[in-house]
Amino acid sequence: MLHRHTLGRVPPKPHTAFYDDGKLLMEQMITREGFHGPFSILYYRTPPTDEFEVERLDLKGFCPVEPVQEQPLHRRHLRTGDVPAGGDYLTGRRTLLISRNLHLGVAKPDAPARRFFSNGDGDELYFVTDGSGYVESVYGVLPFRRHDYILIPKSTPYRLHLAGNRGTLLIFEGRPRLGIPSDYRNAWGQLSDYAPYSHRDFRAPTELLRYEERERIELPFELVTKMEDRLTVHRYRHFPLDVVGWDGVLYPVAFNIHDYQPKTGLVHLPPTIHTTFSGEGFVICSFVPRKVDYHERAIPCPYAHASADMDEVLYYVDGDFTSRRGVGPESISLHPQGVTHGPHPGTYERSIGTQHTNELAVMCDTYEPLRLTRVAAELEDKDYHRSWVTREGESTWKAQGPRTEQ
Ligand SMILES: [Fe+2]
Repeated sequence: MLHRHTLGRVPPKPHTAFYDDGKLLMEQMITREGFHGPFSILYYRTPPTDEFEVERLDLKGFCPVEPVQEQPLHRRHLRTGDVPAGGDYLTGRRTLLISRNLHLGVAKPDAPARRFFSNGDGDELYFVTDGSGYVESVYGVLPFRRHDYILIPKSTPYRLHLAGNRGTLLIFEGRPRLGIPSDYRNAWGQLSDYAPYSHRDFRAPTELLRYEERERIELPFELVTKMEDRLTVHRYRHFPLDVVGWDGVLYPVAFNIHDYQPKTGLVHLPPTIHTTFSGEGFVICSFVPRKVDYHERAIPCPYAHASADMDEVLYYVDGDFTSRRGVGPESISLHPQGVTHGPHPGTYERSIGTQHTNELAVMCDTYEPLRLTRVAAELEDKDYHRSWVTREGESTWKAQGPRTEQ
């Protein structure tokens, strides 16, 4: 939900007769929180309910979700770079971490997008680690590029096309919601000037889909719906996204992480200062290249931290991440609540005097503990939680002297 937007033709007043080429159009409202929340109104040439077949569908690694049975409490590292390319944006999905409010996964497609998808469990947020392309949805065509976030509202029929059919995607599913934090809006719903982005940074669909060309080559059309981690495929003899126009505040948007305006303080600011999106009990933060703390004795590298109430997830995208060793692009670290985490040996001391960081990463802090799936367990670097000690049983901390006089 951002601001009211309109595309194509809509009648002057909702819920009135509206025609295209002399044919009555079917109005559809997509609403949140019953009829009390945000909504959009769309006009279809053929009713979106005109399906001819419905059946159950399983996509291994995505739905149904298979959590591991035993998960000892320690720091974890998943090498998602080891996920082989395969499938499309939907069939290639691999769910890695789950909680009641949040699912996190990746996809590395190598095939053209085929089925449309509508997620009834929550809003979706893609981060495009690599690749570019466009999203086709009932709201039209939304182009995206490398390092974009793409926010897709719950129950939006869409599919995602990648240029050359290849790319790397990080995918969040916020249950039931994921969006712009209310703290970033003023009482009038406008993004405040204190927010780390402005309305101008978000891109909306640019044009409606042209159904005539597609209908000849893809029959029957398939729309996969998801609810409570069960997939169902719906088949249509017409193009199911055949919309003449719409208006409202629900529609997909794209936002590039490099348009995020980072904050820097006199001394180290907590990571949640980089909050970009939020959901029920979790936030998603953007670490972008920036100047760091400017106190003459500041230590820019984060300190050891016991997060008593939140799991912390970090997805490494690019650059040199100052507090970590042994992780690289596409690594995911999971530092669970109940266990102290902190910088790797040597990184804390070395950060003194640093003026700038080129790190690029996406972080998620979540109250609800995250469970690994079986797919995640296969990607795990099993020695990560022991990587804070360089020799068996001996800390390196004593060997480090002060770089500056106190
Ligand atoms: Fe932390």
